[in-house]
Amino acid sequence: MAQIYARITGTGSALPERVVTNADLEKIVDTSDEWIRTRTGIQQRHIAADGETTGDLATLAAQRALEAAGVKASELDLIVLGTTTPDIIFPSTACLVQHRLGANGCAAFDVNAACSGFVYALGVADKFIRSGQSKKVLVIGAETLTRMVDWNERETCVLFGDGAGAVVLEASEEPGIFATCLHADGGFKHLLYNPVGVSAGFKDEPNHGVRINMSGREVFKVAVKTLDSLVDETLQAAGMEASQIDWLIPHQANLRIIEATAKRLNMPMEQVIVTVDKHANTSSGSVPLALDFAVRSGKVKRGQNLLLEAFGGGFTWASALLRY
Ligand code: ACO
Repeated sequence: MAQIYARITGTGSALPERVVTNADLEKIVDTSDEWIRTRTGIQQRHIAADGETTGDLATLAAQRALEAAGVKASELDLIVLGTTTPDIIFPSTACLVQHRLGANGCAAFDVNAACSGFVYALGVADKFIRSGQSKKVLVIGAETLTRMVDWNERETCVLFGDGAGAVVLEASEEPGIFATCLHADGGFKHLLYNPVGVSAGFKDEPNHGVRINMSGREVFKVAVKTLDSLVDETLQAAGMEASQIDWLIPHQANLRIIEATAKRLNMPMEQVIVTVDKHANTSSGSVPLALDFAVRSGKVKRGQNLLLEAFGGGFTWASALLRY
């Protein structure tokens, strides 16, 4: 029996209309365009309008991916959505999006792996297709992370943005996803977390205590080291050499982290998709946004090998090596 692969047949993305530049942030916190650009590579970010939710962005990105794939929502047999900023606590945002798309009846659930959410969701969807359980799957990464930002805290508020990306995966005898690697180490919770929740309780503070606590320098160090070993592991799992990768599509948190990973792979920056300058860190939205940007701009072409990777709160880290 021929091997079944999960193949991307369409991509889509969505960004809120409102753009906030570094110069705009200079007016609200003690920061500078120069500091933000040199430390992170970020120039601007998109921020959701009042009332605009993760589900809104996810639905739009999904509709664009379905259209690109030529697949009807009613044909889907699974929706997996990576997010750490769901619209409401339950039902899952995947269920809300499913109903809006008109895909009622198929399996639908969220994956919370912070910034690795989309790549985790892709890994899960790949297993459903390989096992023969699903034939057409929608995988989404969507966030309104700026809702967790304390706009008085310059260490974090300059880093994040909102957005969503999606792909349609279909069962195919042609590759396809070759390998996915998913990891987590909850021992690093203290370096990157949001302290409140239904069980932990909320606080009598602005935004009910919902805020990102991040030890930036420590996160940076662990991210670079972990991504180094992740790319080695992924190449080995796929039985490929770094020279066979056409494009690196990394999580868009910080240009310096991206450059370090590219260096490890011996890849020139011309083969790396960079959107952090325009989108900032959109957590689960970042990798599928970058992928859709790369496809629609004509950079990524059919038949090319792509290495996707992400790192985020948990810590979690994940990768996928696939032929587009
Ligand atoms: N503007 C101006 N100065 C600032 C700002 C700002 N926005 N933020 C911090 N500073 C200051 C600090 O106070 C510090 O001042 P001091 O030296 O007087 O104490 C100085 O700049 C240097 O601060 P560092 O934290 O050492 O700066 P660093 O070079 O490490 O850059 C950064 C900080 C950008 C946060 C970096 O560490 C980073 O990108 N870390 C990784 C973050 C990440 O990847 N997160 C991904 C996961 S996110 C998720 O999962 C939800």
